[in-house]
Amino acid sequence: MNKICQILSQSTETLSLQVASLGLPLFDGYDEALSKGYKIFLRAEGNHLSILSSALGEQSCLEVNFVSGALAHRRHFGGGRNQDVCRAIGLNRQRNLKVADATAGLGRDAFILSLQGAHVVAYEKNPVLASLLDWARSQALKQASAESDEELLSVLNRLNFVFADSAYALKPEDFDVVYLDPMFPQREKSAKVKKEMQILHQLLEDDKSDPYQLFASCLTAARSRLVIKRPVTVSYTHLRAHETVLELVYCG
Ligand SMILES: C[S@@+](CC[C@H](N)C(=O)[O-])C[C@H]1O[C@@H](n2cnc3c(N)ncnc32)[C@H](O)[C@@H]1O
Repeated sequence: MNKICQILSQSTETLSLQVASLGLPLFDGYDEALSKGYKIFLRAEGNHLSILSSALGEQSCLEVNFVSGALAHRRHFGGGRNQDVCRAIGLNRQRNLKVADATAGLGRDAFILSLQGAHVVAYEKNPVLASLLDWARSQALKQASAESDEELLSVLNRLNFVFADSAYALKPEDFDVVYLDPMFPQREKSAKVKKEMQILHQLLEDDKSDPYQLFASCLTAARSRLVIKRPVTVSYTHLRAHETVLELVYCG
């Protein structure tokens, strides 16, 4: 059993089974991975699991983390239900919505929606990301229980991750709202985000998705609304700070 299996098997047996098929090597250190010629790999460091790319150096990594970093900041100081993504979903009018995040990625949007009261099922079809999401959720649950953090516990209890292709896994009219944030080429605001996106693109470069099937499945699964995050196609200079838009498609 390799190290990622050991780490992940702390949470559930199912996860360690998943991990057997991840196909990404795991190392303690960056140099060792580099010396073996790996371009993209997992690093286990203390209680942190992250994805690194040899092209981007040791400082840039992708991590799923629900207790510290950007999401913790968002939890304590975020913009509440008036954030764009929450308004697009409709959480500014009604909490408690049942939402599918069809493209979970690093789980950030899913966490923010759950934080604002939605019951979220987030689908991720990449096995590495799906395992990291599940692992990060169980780590966060452990920490929240240990610290009796009732708010974080209730957010995590409203948030579930499913390892599946949402182009085929969603059932008709199963959710109030479906959220879709597929990968697209994009210029980003900060260098750090840009590097994160580069690692994500590298990880997902062999992805052969059918965007039409995914869109059709999301549209059918939503009872009231489908929200699509997409790039702004007209690049006026004043739009550069906001390179994505949230498009709403009303259903039913
Ligand atoms: C841009 S990222 C989403 C980022 C996410 N909104 C966040 O806040 O972290 C897109 C993700 O969707 C996943 N994805 C794409 N098509 C999918 C599908 N049909 N089913 C499930 N996941 C999919 C990709 O593997 C990738 O991880």
